[in-house]
Amino acid sequence: MCGIVGYIGKRDVAPLLLEGLQRLEYRGYDSAGVVVTSPKAPGLKMVKAKGRVRDLEAKIPARFKGTTGIAHTRWATHGAPSDVNAHPHMSADNKVAVVHNGIIDNAAELRRKLEAEGVEFLSETDTEVLTHLIARSTAEKLEDKVRQAVRMIEGTYGIAVLHADFPDRIVVARNGSPVVLGIGEKEMFVASDIAALVMHTRQIVTLDDGEMATLKADDFRTYTTEGTRTTSEPTTVEWEAESYDMGGHDTYMHKEIFEQADAVDRVLRGRIDDRFSTVHLGGLNLGAREARQIRRVKILGCGTSYHAGLIGAQMIEELARIPADAEPASEFRYRNAVVDPDTLYVAVSQSGETYDVLAAVQELKRKGARVFGVVNVVGSAIAREADAGIYVHAGPEVCVVSTKCFTNTTVAFALLALHLGRTRDLSVRDGKRIIEGLRRLPGQITEILKQEEQIKELAELYADARSMLFIGRVRGYPVAREASLKLKEVSYIHAEAYPASELKHGPLALIEPALPTVAIVPDDDLLEKNRAALEEIKAREGKILAVAHQHQEKADQTIVVPKNEDELDPILMGIPLQLLAYHTAKALGRDIDKPRNLAKSVTVE
Ligand code: G6P
Repeated sequence: MCGIVGYIGKRDVAPLLLEGLQRLEYRGYDSAGVVVTSPKAPGLKMVKAKGRVRDLEAKIPARFKGTTGIAHTRWATHGAPSDVNAHPHMSADNKVAVVHNGIIDNAAELRRKLEAEGVEFLSETDTEVLTHLIARSTAEKLEDKVRQAVRMIEGTYGIAVLHADFPDRIVVARNGSPVVLGIGEKEMFVASDIAALVMHTRQIVTLDDGEMATLKADDFRTYTTEGTRTTSEPTTVEWEAESYDMGGHDTYMHKEIFEQADAVDRVLRGRIDDRFSTVHLGGLNLGAREARQIRRVKILGCGTSYHAGLIGAQMIEELARIPADAEPASEFRYRNAVVDPDTLYVAVSQSGETYDVLAAVQELKRKGARVFGVVNVVGSAIAREADAGIYVHAGPEVCVVSTKCFTNTTVAFALLALHLGRTRDLSVRDGKRIIEGLRRLPGQITEILKQEEQIKELAELYADARSMLFIGRVRGYPVAREASLKLKEVSYIHAEAYPASELKHGPLALIEPALPTVAIVPDDDLLEKNRAALEEIKAREGKILAVAHQHQEKADQTIVVPKNEDELDPILMGIPLQLLAYHTAKALGRDIDKPRNLAKSVTVE
C-alpha cells in the first residue's frame, strides 16, 4: 500500500526520490507527491499528483532542486484519490511537510479540536492532522515537535517529516507501519520498504514500534517517542538490487513464476539433515521435548498465504499426526478465539506486514500463546513480533499476486511438518522419502515450466469464459482454492473453488458447456473418486481441464505434472495454474503486476 521514500545528502534529490517511488509502485497506490529542500536554499518545494509516479514526474518543474526530500505514494483511506489528498501534507506557513503510512484513529477528534482553534484544513486526510500538530508545537527542536505530535495520535503510523527551519535533517517515526533507514557514505536514506533502498545501500536499520530517528547527511540516531536513546546497529540485507529488475521478462509475475526452481532450492539449502532424515530449522528454537508437547497447530494468514497455510496444515497432520488447521487471520482476530497454551500458532505472511496477521499475532501473544512466523521479508513486523520462525527465502516478490512466495511457503511448511514428524512417529524411512521428494522439487518445477506454450494455448482457449470452477479433493482442494484466487485476481474472471467431494451437493447445478472446470487430479488414493467427479461433469457437457499426473480420459485437456510424494504433490500442482492465470490475464490485456483495487501488502485495517 502507501510508500515512503526520503533522502538527505549531496545529490539532486528529486530524480532519486522518483526512482525510489517507482520501486514501491508494486505495492499499489493512487496518487504520489514529493517535497524537497536544501540547507543552501531553505524553504520547501512541493509537487503532488493523482495517478501514477510518471504523472507526478510530468508535473515537476525544471527548477525543482534540493538535496533533502521526502516522497510518498498514497493508497486512499481517508478521502478520495486527488492532488490535494496526496501526501506530503504541508502546514499553512509552508514550513512543515509530512508523509504518512497507516491510519490515525483519533483523526476526526483532533481535527475538530484544531478547527475550533482556527486551523484550516486543505485535505480530507487523517495525515493533515499530524502536519498541523507539528507546526503548532512550541518545542524548540524538530524532534520534540514530532514527539509531542505523535504522542497525541492513536493509530498506526510510519512518518517522515521535513521542516523548513531544520533543512539539515529528516525526522521519522514508526508505530505499526514499517520505517527502514538506509545508511550510506555521507548520505542517508529512509523508506517504508527496503525495495526502495537496495540500489543505494545494503546497510539497513529497521525501526521498532515506538521508535523515532533523526537522519542527517553524515549521521543518524534513534530514540523512543519518550525521548530515550536506543542503539541500532545497521545490518546488511541479502537482497540484491538486481532482484528488483524485470530481467528480460515482460512482467514481474512472469519473472517470479520462472524463479521458482531457484527459490525452492534456497528454502531447502542448509536445512536438510540426512543423518537423522530430518531438517534443521535454526530459527525455531524448539527443543524436541517442547516439540512433543504441541497438541495442535493453528495456522493464520491472509489471501495466498492463508492458502499456503491450508496446504501446510494438511502436511502437518499427515507427517506429524498433529491436528492442524488454517484460518484467515482476518477472521480469527475478530472472534475472541479460544487460545490454548498447548497449541502452536503459526503466522504466515510474505511481506510480514499484513495488518490482520500482525493484529492476530499481537492478540495471541497478549493471551500468552506461542507464535511462530513463516515469513519472507527478513526483519519485518510479523517476523519480529513472532517468538520464532522460518524464513521462506523466496527473495523479493514484486508482483501484487503471489507466486514464488506461495510455493516457497508450502515448502517451508513441508520442512516444519517433517521436523515435527521426526520428533514423533514419522519413521526414518518416511523421513528419507520426504527428503528425497523435496530434493526433486526444483527439477520438477523446471519440467512444469517447460510446458508454457501448451498452457498459453489453453489460457487463450478459456479466456472468454465468464466464470470458472476449480475442484480438488483433500490434498487437491487448497490447490484449487489458490488457483481460483490467482485467476480472479489477475484476469478478473470470476472463479470459484469447491471440494470435488461436494460437487453433487450444489455446484453440479451450474455445470453446462459455458462453465469450464479445472480439476486437480493427483495420482493418489483418491484418484478413482476424482475420476468419478470428472464423469459427472462430462455427463452434463461441462468442459474439463485437468491438472494430473497422467492423461485423464474424461478431461478435454490434461496438463500433466511430474509425480512427487503424495504429501508433496500439492506444492507442484498449482504451478501450471499460475501460468494459466498469467496467460489468461495477458490474453485479456490486464495490468498483470498491479491488478485493479489490490495492493501487495494490506497494512491497514
Ligand atoms: C494482499 C495481496 C495478496 C496476499 C495477501 C497477504 O491481499 O494482494 O497477494 O496474499 O495480501 O499478504 P502477505 O504479505 O501477508 O502474505
